[in-house]
This record gives sequence, structure tokens and C-alpha cells, in this order.
Amino acid sequence: MHATTVSAGTIQSQLKGVNSGATTRWQERLIRYRKTIDNLVVDITNPYQISTAERAALAVRIKHANMAIYRCQSADNIDPDGLTALAAQLGLGVPDRNLCADEDGLSKIQVEKISARQRYIPYTNKPLNWHTDGYYHTPDRIIRTMLLHCVRPARHGGTLEAMDHEIIYGLLREQHPRLAEALCRPDAMTIPENRPKDGPHRAECSGPVFFWNAGVLCMRYTARKQNVIWKHDNQTREGVAALEEILSRSGDLILRRRLRPGEGLVSANVPHRREAFKDSPQAHETRLVYRGRYTSALQI
Ligand SMILES: [Fe+2]
Repeated sequence: MHATTVSAGTIQSQLKGVNSGATTRWQERLIRYRKTIDNLVVDITNPYQISTAERAALAVRIKHANMAIYRCQSADNIDPDGLTALAAQLGLGVPDRNLCADEDGLSKIQVEKISARQRYIPYTNKPLNWHTDGYYHTPDRIIRTMLLHCVRPARHGGTLEAMDHEIIYGLLREQHPRLAEALCRPDAMTIPENRPKDGPHRAECSGPVFFWNAGVLCMRYTARKQNVIWKHDNQTREGVAALEEILSRSGDLILRRRLRPGEGLVSANVPHRREAFKDSPQAHETRLVYRGRYTSALQI
């Protein structure tokens, strides 16, 4: 099967960013990031028409942390149409359609007991480990933005964690540039082809973990151990281990939030995970989160 490769672009020139004279810039970003994730929530009065101040508040958080949390004043005034309207105001177009998406491109993430979706972990109440959305996509379908909107939380659990990939990249370089360089190589991570009996075929896709697209650092990653093939060399093994270490030991650099009704995370597809949860026995009170994936970058 023909493999596709995510272009590493002008990686070598960009790699110098966290070193030498840029160290101060990196340290400044780290300081700003810490402050920002402690104050990530922006109240939105009307999701159909966000105000100039609300837009500016979202923009500054996205600039410094690659993510923001919006909180609708009334949880009832935002439905899929409201989400589509909000996304459009953030410069996002039509969501990337996947198998489980509705007509409007949004996916309802909830526990599925009957449908074929239950084979996918997002549609169960199990924990979902660190990943970026669409890490298995080909280069023409990079997910640059991800939105998660909470309609109803679980009775217990379901907390979301997220960490800015620019910070992860900087920490890797700070530890040793070769760790980041290993994960920038165009054959660092391969997702094998998938040929399900009852679904569309997906071609093998090789690419870097970190790469630049239109001058912006992007990340594709999954912490899963199956269906991912890492480049077989010491440098890659070392890079992957360092990345895992950062994700498991950077508690103070990780956003941790149990989204409430009417709240949502909008991010430049930063790595995230979800803890296991327990639903209410009442069918109309079970956890429901809308997810939108966009190939457009946030423009705000
Ligand atoms: Fe996700």
C-alpha cells in the first residue's frame, strides 16, 4: 500500500527557535502559558454574536496557550446551530466529516450501547488517553482546530486534560534538542493501514509528531500502544519516552477541567485526554459532548 507522508517543511530552520537567543522568548512563553491556563475561561453572552471584548479575551488565551474555554451565560442558548455560529466567528469553516459525525459535521460524543460506534473508545465511558484528533489522517486533512462542547457532564468523572503542544515541544528541546528533532523526522510515527470489514479503508500514514504548517507548529500524536509504529531507533525511542514523561509529570502545565453544561474547549488541536466516567442511570441525564474537528486554523 502506498504510504503518505506529512511534510516536515522547513523544520531545520524552525528548530532553532527554542535555543540560544530565543531562550528568553521560550521562558516568557512558559510564564505566560502558566498564567493563561489558570485563567482560561471566557464568558460568552450570546454565542450567535460574540462581542469585541469576548473575542479579544478568547484571542489572547489562544495566542498564549493554543486553547480557551468559553462559558455560555445560558447553557440552554447553545445547540448545534449555536455551535456552528460560534465556530464561524472563530474563523472555522465546515467541520471535517468523519464516519460518526452528524449532517452538520459535529459528532455527538456519548456512550453508545447499541450502534457500531461503541467499538470506538470515545463512545464508551472508558478513559481516553493522550492524543491529538485525526492523528491518523493524511497530510491533506490535518486537523488544526478541535472544539468540545459540553451539553451534560457525567454523573462522576469525565474530566478533560489538555496541554499546549508548543510547551511540550519547548520542554523537549530544553531537555535536549535531539529529543525534539527525533520527533520531527518525517518517518517518526506510522499509523498502519486499516481495512475494517464494514468501514472505509484507511491507507498507511507516516509522518512526524511535530511539524510546521503555514509557519505554525502542529502535533500529531497518540499514546496508544497498538496500531502505531514508531521508527525503530534509539533516538526515536528516547524522544517518545521523554514525551510520555512530560505528559505524565507536568501536572502544573496541564489544563484539567470537568466541563459544565454550556462550556466548551476550543483549541489548536492540542493533545488531550479524558478520564473514565460514570453516567446517570437516567437516559436523559447521560454525558453528552459535541465535538467539532476543523482543518482550518483558528482565526481570531
Ligand atoms: Fe480527541
